[in-house]
Amino acid sequence: MTENKNQKNKESDLMEKIVSLCKRRGFIFQGSEIYGGLAGTFDFGHFGVALKNNIKQSWWKKFVESRTDMYGVDAAILMRQEVWQATGHVANFADPMVECSNCHFRFREDSVFAGHASSYFVEVLVDLEGKKVFDYSKAPCPECKKVGNYTKAKQFNMMFQTKVGASEDSSATSYLRPETAQGMFVNFKNTVDAFHPKLPFGMAQIGKAFRNEITPRDFIFRQREFEQMEIEYFVRPNAWSESFGMWLNQMHEWIEEIGIDTTKTTDLIVEDFDRAFYSEKTIDIEFEFPFGKKELFGLAYRTDYDLKTHKLEYVDEESGAGKITPHVIEPSFGLDRAFLAILLSAYDETDPERPFLKFKPSIAPVICAVSPLLKNKPELVGYAKDNVYALLKKEFGRVMWDDNGNIGKRYRRQDEIGTPFCIVVDFETLGENKENQENIDMKDTVTVRDRDTGAQERVKVSELVKYLKSELS
Ligand code: GAP
Repeated sequence: MTENKNQKNKESDLMEKIVSLCKRRGFIFQGSEIYGGLAGTFDFGHFGVALKNNIKQSWWKKFVESRTDMYGVDAAILMRQEVWQATGHVANFADPMVECSNCHFRFREDSVFAGHASSYFVEVLVDLEGKKVFDYSKAPCPECKKVGNYTKAKQFNMMFQTKVGASEDSSATSYLRPETAQGMFVNFKNTVDAFHPKLPFGMAQIGKAFRNEITPRDFIFRQREFEQMEIEYFVRPNAWSESFGMWLNQMHEWIEEIGIDTTKTTDLIVEDFDRAFYSEKTIDIEFEFPFGKKELFGLAYRTDYDLKTHKLEYVDEESGAGKITPHVIEPSFGLDRAFLAILLSAYDETDPERPFLKFKPSIAPVICAVSPLLKNKPELVGYAKDNVYALLKKEFGRVMWDDNGNIGKRYRRQDEIGTPFCIVVDFETLGENKENQENIDMKDTVTVRDRDTGAQERVKVSELVKYLKSELS
């Protein structure tokens, strides 16, 4: 029990360190913070936006630009209520909600105890219809600690409802999309008519999704407003299994490419009672987060469920089959969960004095920081700004000017931001210190410090772009 407790403390410690680093270094802030915060919402600061954009670009490049069978979409977030009635989301997109009768704390039946000390008292059973049932009658409420004083679970629909236009009647009801997927299905016909794709082909979309989660928790893991990167891949009905396997491989490939620790991911075949109502087979790719092994991304076989509900068909001239309803394989990625898994994989505190984020250069928010050794020497500042910073900024964009504090402090700051290279202009760069013969060769060279090893080397200014390009690739 003590060992377990120590492990738990270590894990919550790690999350606290990550949350605090994200705020300190301008990655992520609590939403509406100056008014006390809005639960389940987060705002991304300058480096958070940069990391998000790099993740999105990497995803789009791999799954859309480098393929010949994919079509991008950017659909509206607000959609007519009929879309969500047809898909079954109005009736079924709900989580079981339970309330503690003592303190009125409300929680999602299957999630509140996860990772919590009370979870030792929860029994998970399967009822006669094959549905998962939780017996928490012996579990203390996570909020007030009173044991077994709960209401019966009620279904709580997670879609955010709103009204479109000035009218208040029910015809004006609309929903913020709880998944980006439907924005693609409703544009299936438009895409087929515009591009005449042959089967198999896919549609891809990156965008916000909204869920009124009963218990948002674990930093950006479970939010009420988040981003998804989704693919709907349309296949002939008998080809779904092969395509499912291909997509699982592709997902794993990308996970490795963006720097998520693959020793911490596993595939989980989702049991019938845990699958979404539209899916016939689902594999969750799980990641060992500090708060437990949890879903990172999902791969679902949605059959012909969505196209049928929207009454959409495809004329398969190539196979001679005529009008068919293609089946759908859906690789679905949560951008914020990718962000968190990348942060956790990159966080290195082997040396507690020097924690750093070892992002891959290709996705790091900043590729390199440029500094003059001393900020009160105009000749160093001038050279660093005009000959190095301007050159690299133009070439790479993700370049930071950093002359704040002494050089040691700048290195610590850039380590925490995860900047792979720090470039310093010193007196040798200017060709000074000529008493040392070696320094003559060092004119127009700079020090490049490697984030991961702390090693430094001299690189000619004229070769910096080539040097960094090769590191980036
Ligand atoms: N279109 C299928 C779909 O939406 P999902 O498993 O409900 O499936 C897909 O969501 C992905 O979206 C998840 O694997 C996860 O990465 C992310 N996700 C889901 N709910 C989330 C939430 N509340 N906060 C952050 N990310 C979430």
